[in-house]
Amino acid sequence: MNPALDLLQPYPFEKLGKLFSGVEPPSDRQQILWSVGEPKHPVPPAIVQKLQESAVMLGTYPPIAASAELRTSISNWLDQRFLQPKAIDPERHVLPVNGTREALYSIAQCIVNPSPGATVVMPNPFYQIYEGAALLAGATPWFQNLSAQNSFKPDFDTVPEAVWKNCQLIYVCNPGNPAGSVLSASELNKLIELADTFDFVIASDECYSELYFDENAPPAGLLKAAWQAGRADFQRCVVFHSLSKRSSSPGLRSGFVAGDANIIKKYRQFRTYHGCSMPPPIQAASVTAWSDELHVRENRRLYKEKFGEVLKILSPVIDNNGDSFYTEQPEGGFYLWTRVPGDDTKFARQLYQRENLVVLPGSYLSRTAHDVTPGYGYVRMALVAPREQCIEGAERLKRFVEHYKEE
Ligand SMILES: Cc1ncc(COP(=O)(O)O)c(C=O)c1O
Repeated sequence: MNPALDLLQPYPFEKLGKLFSGVEPPSDRQQILWSVGEPKHPVPPAIVQKLQESAVMLGTYPPIAASAELRTSISNWLDQRFLQPKAIDPERHVLPVNGTREALYSIAQCIVNPSPGATVVMPNPFYQIYEGAALLAGATPWFQNLSAQNSFKPDFDTVPEAVWKNCQLIYVCNPGNPAGSVLSASELNKLIELADTFDFVIASDECYSELYFDENAPPAGLLKAAWQAGRADFQRCVVFHSLSKRSSSPGLRSGFVAGDANIIKKYRQFRTYHGCSMPPPIQAASVTAWSDELHVRENRRLYKEKFGEVLKILSPVIDNNGDSFYTEQPEGGFYLWTRVPGDDTKFARQLYQRENLVVLPGSYLSRTAHDVTPGYGYVRMALVAPREQCIEGAERLKRFVEHYKEE
């Protein structure tokens, strides 16, 4: 067995299952699940229809790079969303993948040379795949602690030079999971300069990039930052996008990696050996999804409405609790990253026990690094449930916080 497997931590939801074991939530209250980031808005009907119509395509082996039609629809989307017409070459810059999770994992296996000291830098708290990917690639994770002091954004100035020298890959999550902070083009440009100086690859996880609250201010993203800095080759930059959140279709398992043509070429060769090409009906449905923005706008509208209503309900508790309970609308994504009194695991357990409302303790999304566990004292709340359930959840949370005493 690969000994690195022993380094993997249980997934946050496994820890949550243990935390809740033996707890009986009130049976008269329907469970509200705010723990899992699984979109619950309806899957756009056009995607479902295309998927059904394309079932006959199951009779062919799909190529690893997927169809030219899918790569072109993705390139057009990237051009219009971040760049300018023809900036992206569908042949050289794009590789469709079966959701970003597998790609975020496999990119590390492709990039990292497991030499002594090999380091992968990542945010903390984080999406746990980054850590597992680094460990199984034979590298050591180096955590950038995110806190209210740095607006939950990685501060690239605080990473020691010795770490940059060993860094082969950095993960950034933009907008971030869990805190929803957005890195600006100038912050990303600073990172690109560091990547040039120390010769590492930037993997920018942008799967929440289409969930933002101001229609006039979409998040910039790494390719745009590179383009604006005159780097039409996107050297050392790769981005990860997904239909899971953008198009509320997590079961479709459809996303893509785009950027540096040299990396994409090698990565495509690497993935050939997994044999994980995208099934043809999924490719066809993905073309439909990437070619339409109306359903994405509607998706954003629904989140904006829910965040507005939930925050309105919570505002008196925020006002009455000073620093001990605090949350605010994120810049992007669908999570409320909420500061709670004391131990986040105790808070989550009691909230489940009293109100049958399930949230994820922040400690489960972070590691103790540089003497701090940055997720401690926070819980993550995914506002994915239907509007009525989100409102009901906010009422329960308000009532709970008003009487909360740590047990
Ligand atoms: C930060 C982040 N990256 C990637 C993913 C994986 O998304 P998918 O594999 O559905 O594209 C998730 C899913 O929750 C996520 O939160």
